[in-house]
Amino acid sequence: MRLEIEDLKAEIDGKPILNGITLALNTGEIHALMGPNGSGKSTLANVLMGHPRYTVTGGRARLDGAELLEMEPDERSRRGLFLAFQYPTEIPGVTVGKFLKRARELRVPDGKLNVGAYIKELRESMTFMEMDQGFINRYLNEGFSGGEKKRMEILQMLVLDPRFAILDETDSGLDIDALKIVAKGVNKLRGQNFCALVITHYQRILDHIRPDFVHIMYKGRIATSGGAELVKTLEERGYDWVKAKYGIEEDEHEPAASR
Ligand SMILES: Nc1ncnc2c1ncn2[C@@H]1O[C@H](COP(=O)(O)OP(=O)(O)O)[C@@H](O)[C@H]1O
Ligand SMILES: [Mg+2]
Repeated sequence: MRLEIEDLKAEIDGKPILNGITLALNTGEIHALMGPNGSGKSTLANVLMGHPRYTVTGGRARLDGAELLEMEPDERSRRGLFLAFQYPTEIPGVTVGKFLKRARELRVPDGKLNVGAYIKELRESMTFMEMDQGFINRYLNEGFSGGEKKRMEILQMLVLDPRFAILDETDSGLDIDALKIVAKGVNKLRGQNFCALVITHYQRILDHIRPDFVHIMYKGRIATSGGAELVKTLEERGYDWVKAKYGIEEDEHEPAASR
């Protein structure tokens, strides 16, 4: 499967955030999307999932040739797109068990889930993610620590078994052990039928999920792309290097002398 993003532009409240993003993602590949805060990484993730707050103002995205941006968000999920949120929301009143079962049902073509087999799988996935089985009866994310919320996002991903997973800073705020568990979840799905776009500000998680491709985003554009070696360059030189080398027009303040 292939996800093609072509010159994608989007804004929020009339403010342009994405200024022409072009990226092609194929199943079998792991891509990392890095960039300073505010460069538009989360916006790209949200636009691809169909978040209503953002307005697409140009370009397109195609999933195996079908126009992704014209699909309702739930259709995008049914076709195998998944987003692990940077800030997972709490849903009081809905238990983890109920939520995951409903989400999983949507991925079964006729909606008829083999409940016994599903529960067995869910328990195995929870063990794999080193999560206490007691989470099944808790309300989704309510009172979860930051690390528990992130693990919950990855558990969701394992249950849904998506073709394209976007992980939005799933690593931020995690200690090294939690980070390794999150990476383990991604590496479990890694394979010919899976693609991940791992969004991160730091290189740390990429020591555990080795990306095939790395893209650096800056001011709503992909400033540069490369292989895993780009992570190292970035680590050594910092984002100032990106800004200096690829700094697409700095803020358009007229120099005082020309006023
Ligand atoms: N809901 C929102 N309302 C207003 N501005 C927003 C909203 N979401 C994002 N932005 C703005 O869009 C820009 C890009 O944000 P974001 O996509 O979150 O960047 P990143 O994930 O790379 O840190 C920032 O300037 C941010 O303030
Ligand atoms: Mg973000």
